[in-house]
Amino acid sequence: MSKAGDASSGVHRGAPSAYDDPGTPEEITRRRFMANATLAIGGVIGLSLAIPIVGSLIPDANSKGIWSPLDAKEYAQLDSATSTPIKLDFTLKGKDNYLPEQDSPEYVWGIKVDPAKFEAKRPNLFKKGSPAGVPYDVITMNFVIMSPICPHLGCRFNWNASANKFLCPCHGSQFNFDGTHEAGPAPRGLDPLPLRDQSGQAEVMWIHYRSTTPDRIVVSYLA
Ligand code: FES
Repeated sequence: MSKAGDASSGVHRGAPSAYDDPGTPEEITRRRFMANATLAIGGVIGLSLAIPIVGSLIPDANSKGIWSPLDAKEYAQLDSATSTPIKLDFTLKGKDNYLPEQDSPEYVWGIKVDPAKFEAKRPNLFKKGSPAGVPYDVITMNFVIMSPICPHLGCRFNWNASANKFLCPCHGSQFNFDGTHEAGPAPRGLDPLPLRDQSGQAEVMWIHYRSTTPDRIVVSYLA
């Protein structure tokens, strides 16, 4: 076999090259240290990148609980609610860690209820601490404010007066006046939002709950 043939086959037949030499014990130790340090630094960088991303998905404590006022006209609309839900347009106040406070147009549905009858229809909402309950008063001043977001996949539903139901245009979920789930793929009834009377001014708080789950899991306090 010729030398040219050995070279082209890539087979080493001579003394070990620099690549084969493992080095002294000190060199081996140093290389291991450098490899471990590189892994550790990479891990810290990865973690520091991951925390803001995960953090942005978790309700921000600073923005949690922002109340948006209803002006006099909006409150008068709500006060006029009888057996028909009222669509309440208002200015949503939002803020997170990265942006200054912003106003954006939003709406919710307001219904006037008999508290005892409403609680009898939707008892789970009132079980504070239970997965289907909410940690605030569901009824304030005899009103319940409903999020306009369908709990199936997040479309916006509408009130259909002739059907006397909330109907979601996306996949056909239906909800009664009190928000109980009547038909379609939605996993739960409509989500109530907090309402309060602050020195004579009605205010609502926006909470976005996770879609597709029977439980009420907060995704964010912003739109
Ligand atoms: S998003 Fe409303 S039924 Fe699917």
